[in-house]
Amino acid sequence: MDYAATAQEAQARIAAAPDLDALEKLRVEFLGKQGSVSALLKTLGALSPEERQTVGPQIHALREGVTEALAIRKAALEQAELDARLAAEQVDLTLPAAQTPRGSIHPVSQVLDELAEIFADLGFSVATGPEIEDDWHNFTALNIPESHPARAMHDTFYFPDVDAEGRKMLLRTHTSPVQIRAMLQQGAPIRIIAPGRVYRSDSDATHTPMFHQVEGLVIDKGITLGHLKWTLETFLKAFFEREDIVLRLRPSYFPFTEPSVEVDVGFALVNGKRVLGGSGDAPGHGWMELLGSGMVGRKVIAAGGLDPDEWQGFAFGVGVDRLAMLKYGMDDLRAFFDGDARWLGHYGFSAFDVPTLSAGVGAGA
Ligand code: DAH
Repeated sequence: MDYAATAQEAQARIAAAPDLDALEKLRVEFLGKQGSVSALLKTLGALSPEERQTVGPQIHALREGVTEALAIRKAALEQAELDARLAAEQVDLTLPAAQTPRGSIHPVSQVLDELAEIFADLGFSVATGPEIEDDWHNFTALNIPESHPARAMHDTFYFPDVDAEGRKMLLRTHTSPVQIRAMLQQGAPIRIIAPGRVYRSDSDATHTPMFHQVEGLVIDKGITLGHLKWTLETFLKAFFEREDIVLRLRPSYFPFTEPSVEVDVGFALVNGKRVLGGSGDAPGHGWMELLGSGMVGRKVIAAGGLDPDEWQGFAFGVGVDRLAMLKYGMDDLRAFFDGDARWLGHYGFSAFDVPTLSAGVGAGA
C-alpha cells in the first residue's frame, strides 16, 4: 500500500472541506473508531516484527499528517467564521441613533447646577463632605453636645459601630458638618457652598428619609449680618429669576449660629397659588419660611481650628428639593425619588440646557 499517496489524498480532501461540519465528518472517516487510518493502525498487531518495523512508521506518519491537516483546516475555518461574524455584526457609530435618547436631567440635579453657577459668580467654590459622618462633625463641633435636645430633633440614623476614635457613626442629618471640615481643611478666609444628600428618619408628602440641602459658609474679617442678607437676596433673585424677591429676617435659634435668623420670602396668592415676589405684608400677600441662617457661633469657629476673635462669618442651610418644588411647581416630594420615567419626562430637563447666567439659570424650564 502507498501510504504517502493515501496521506496526500486525505490531506487534499481535508484542505478542501468547505465548513466545520464537513471537516468533522472527515475526521470521523479517517480517525474515528471505525475510521480508515484507525483500521490501518489495528493491522500492526498482526504483522511480524520485521514488517512492523518498516510499515509501522509509515502508518504513524500517515496518522500524524492527517491529524495536523485537520487541526490546520479547523483553525482556518474558525477564523473565517469569526471574520464573517465580525463583518456582519459591525456597528457604525457615526450613524445617527435609531431612537432618540430618552434620559433627562432630574430637577434636583438641575437645581444643584443652578446653585453652583449662581454662587460661582459670587466667588464661592463647591465643597463636599461624607454622607457617613461621625457625631463629632455632625453635632458636637456644631455646638450640639451629647445631651442637647437638637440631637433628638434630628431623627438620626445611627450605625451600630463607632470609628477608630470611638466616635458614633451616623448618616449626616444636615450639610452643616461640611462647615467644620472646610475650616479644618482650608483655614480662612472661606467662601463655599456644600450641596449634598442628608438623612433623617422621617417620611410624608413633604419629608423623605433622604433629601438634599445646600450649606453656605463665608468666613472672613469683619463679616456682618448685612453681608448675609445681601448674599441671600442676590442668590434668591438670581435663582427665581425675579427682581421683586423680598426677604424677611426673623430672629430664631440654631445651636451653631449666634444670632440665628430664619429667612422668609414674600409671595402673592395668584388664583390660589403662591407666586414668589413682593412684600409678604402687602394685601393678598404672605411670608413663606425658606431657610435657616445666622452668624457662625464662636464655638463653631474654634472647633474649625480658627480664632473667633480674628475671624467671623455667616452660614445658611436650605433644602434643595424644596427650592426645586418652589421654582418648578411640583407638590409631592416623594415623587422626586420614585424613579418614574413619566414623572422625569414631565419635570426633567434636557441634558443640553446647561444653566448659565447669561442664558438664564432656568433655561429650558
Ligand atoms: N443645619 C440646619 C438644618 O438642617 C439648617 C441651617 C440653619 C444651616 C442655620 C445653617 C444655619 O448653616 O446657619 O436644619
